[in-house]
Amino acid sequence: MTLAAPSTTHAVQSQSKDNALTVDNVYKQFGANDAPVIAVDHMSFDVRQGEFVTVIGPSGCGKSTLFSIIGGLMGDYQGQVRVGNEPINGPHPAVGMVFQEESTFPWRNVIENVAFPLELNGIGKAERHERAQHFINMVGLAGFEKRLPSELSGGMRQRVSIARTLVSQPKILLMDEPFAALDEQTRLLLGDKITQIQQELNQTTLLITHNLTEAVQLSDRIVVMTYRPGRVKRIIDIDLPRPRTSDVVSSAAFGKYVAEIWGDLREEASRGMADSESHAVKDAARG
Ligand SMILES: Nc1ncnc2c1ncn2[C@@H]1O[C@H](COP(=O)(O)OP(=O)(O)O)[C@@H](O)[C@H]1O
Ligand SMILES: [Mg+2]
Repeated sequence: MTLAAPSTTHAVQSQSKDNALTVDNVYKQFGANDAPVIAVDHMSFDVRQGEFVTVIGPSGCGKSTLFSIIGGLMGDYQGQVRVGNEPINGPHPAVGMVFQEESTFPWRNVIENVAFPLELNGIGKAERHERAQHFINMVGLAGFEKRLPSELSGGMRQRVSIARTLVSQPKILLMDEPFAALDEQTRLLLGDKITQIQQELNQTTLLITHNLTEAVQLSDRIVVMTYRPGRVKRIIDIDLPRPRTSDVVSSAAFGKYVAEIWGDLREEASRGMADSESHAVKDAARG
């Protein structure tokens, strides 16, 4: 092994061969150079094959910007995102995305929603319905195939979105606050579903969230982000047993992780809160 001098311009590249996803020194700023908002500040981390990694940080810290960059939806950034060893530019079939906003097609029923990516790929109806059915069953929506999204709860609609992403069998599942609009109980139960799916498919997953319980419940590792500029504050291994269910939230070990991560997050969340309050005061003063 050769020892390179530390470089300030480029982070150490991850050498591990089983990295499914590598975020390497990614930097993104918005606005003019004289008054930039640095949304993502030289972030580096990786997700190993089959691993569930969560990026957590307070609102406004740059999570969705990072999500868009990894998903190939945002250009004009510095650094590199790699799937395996391949740098990605633009949307990549290996990365399946689930968005915070509801993204089901209201005029399509459940099975037609889930089968949609296969339809785009020109796969015939019988086969695409068979494949869609498999993932509908997996997310626990068997029996609801013919329902329209408007006939489902918010949690069920998010499961439709997840099934629609999984149907393309992406190497990496990338989700941005998929449960943010759901109540806490639904969130915990949906977390169970996600854990089961991840185990069944050995699905490499990167979740982005501000929710501490969700992060600890689901993850193998958690990347804590700072608030503006968005940097990696700490990466924590979550050494809770698998298979795991939502019962884990009542364990002492779970509580310790939550407390530990909140210790890191509190300062960042406070800065975010102070920032949004000062904006609110300025907005009010402007009338
Ligand atoms: N398209 C954009 N143009 C200008 N500023 C943006 C844009 N998108 C995000 N930002 C700013 O970048 C920062 C991070 O935003 P975002 O990534 O959405 O944070 P999060 O998802 O963690 O809430 C915020 O200050 C936000 O206002
Ligand atoms: Mg966001």
